Amino acid sequence: MPATVPHAALLGLGVDRGKRVVPNSEVIEAIDSSDEWIQQRSGIKERRWVGPGQTLETMALAASQRALESADIAAQQLDAVLVATCTHTMQTPALAAKLAHQLGTEGPVAFDISAACAGFSHALGLATDMIRGGTARHVLVVGAELLSAMTSRTDRGTAFIFGDGAGAVVVGPSEVPGIGPVVWGSDGEQYDAIRQSTDWRDVLASESPVMPYIQMDGSTVFRWASFEMAKVAQQTLDRSGLTVDDLDLFIPHQANMRIIDAMARAIKLPDHVRIARDIAEQGNTSAASVPLALARMYEEGTARSGDLALMIAFGAGLSYAAQVVRVP
Ligand code: COA
Repeated sequence: MPATVPHAALLGLGVDRGKRVVPNSEVIEAIDSSDEWIQQRSGIKERRWVGPGQTLETMALAASQRALESADIAAQQLDAVLVATCTHTMQTPALAAKLAHQLGTEGPVAFDISAACAGFSHALGLATDMIRGGTARHVLVVGAELLSAMTSRTDRGTAFIFGDGAGAVVVGPSEVPGIGPVVWGSDGEQYDAIRQSTDWRDVLASESPVMPYIQMDGSTVFRWASFEMAKVAQQTLDRSGLTVDDLDLFIPHQANMRIIDAMARAIKLPDHVRIARDIAEQGNTSAASVPLALARMYEEGTARSGDLALMIAFGAGLSYAAQVVRVP
């Protein structure tokens, strides 16, 4: 086993987006809605869905290979592969095991994490503790989702929200803190506020089975996220010994532009902190949303290597996880 090290850090990032750009005009063909309503209420202008040849697996693999390349780490150096997803339709084996094999790794620990939109940030918390605890030296953390396959085209409350994509980071040992303490938890009283529409057993028992989809009580989730997550963001800063003034970037889960703005206002984010707004063009990609949002900030020149970022993710469970990181 690797020796314990004082800290962990992000070493590299890679992403893969759904290739098909789906504008609001296409989504509203099947629901009573409008481009204007969707933009005003969610901030979404278009979303990315998988194109020809793309699957959950191809996106996870492409993002992982890019992350390894950017970290300059060989697949054989990975001690662990953690995949956060809620749209891998095989109950077993884990997507992580297959991905580890496809990458050419040499027998790392490999498992999936089911924490929905907060999954990537949970996996990052775990990876950090594994590295600091000496049970792994290099960990690949992947968030991957193919939500278009689990979206009802006719459910007015969700048809316009979700997107497809994958994001991956390589986490490794560091002499200086690169990933701060995770603040995480859940509110089980609201465990069904976001849920799979039908249990698989009921799907199979049905005379005309249809693919289950993600259902949610939108306004319940909206209120919880806007108020409770701002408190979690503040706790994360406090536990890291930082204030909002120390931050360069704010990268919240891309659930709704109004939630992002409400959180930024609640924690009194100063003007110099750049805010991730990937949702406008990508939609909500659940476990993939935080790394995809960071990638867009690099592409647009609003994030630079070494910037200090507050990342916070939340979703079904209701679960949440947040940490401050130095971006690679
Ligand atoms: N198009 C047009 N009107 C719609 C609509 C749609 N797609 N969906 C709902 N409406 C209507 C409602 O019928 C309601 O009309 P009424 O006032 O006449 O009754 C009105 O818009 C407001 O509905 P509400 O559900 O309160 O809207 P909202 O402001 O909460 O916005 C969401 C809806 C889904 C955008 C918002 O709740 C949300 O983003 N929630 C969290 C989402 C999320 O991403 N969760 C995933 C995991 S974190």
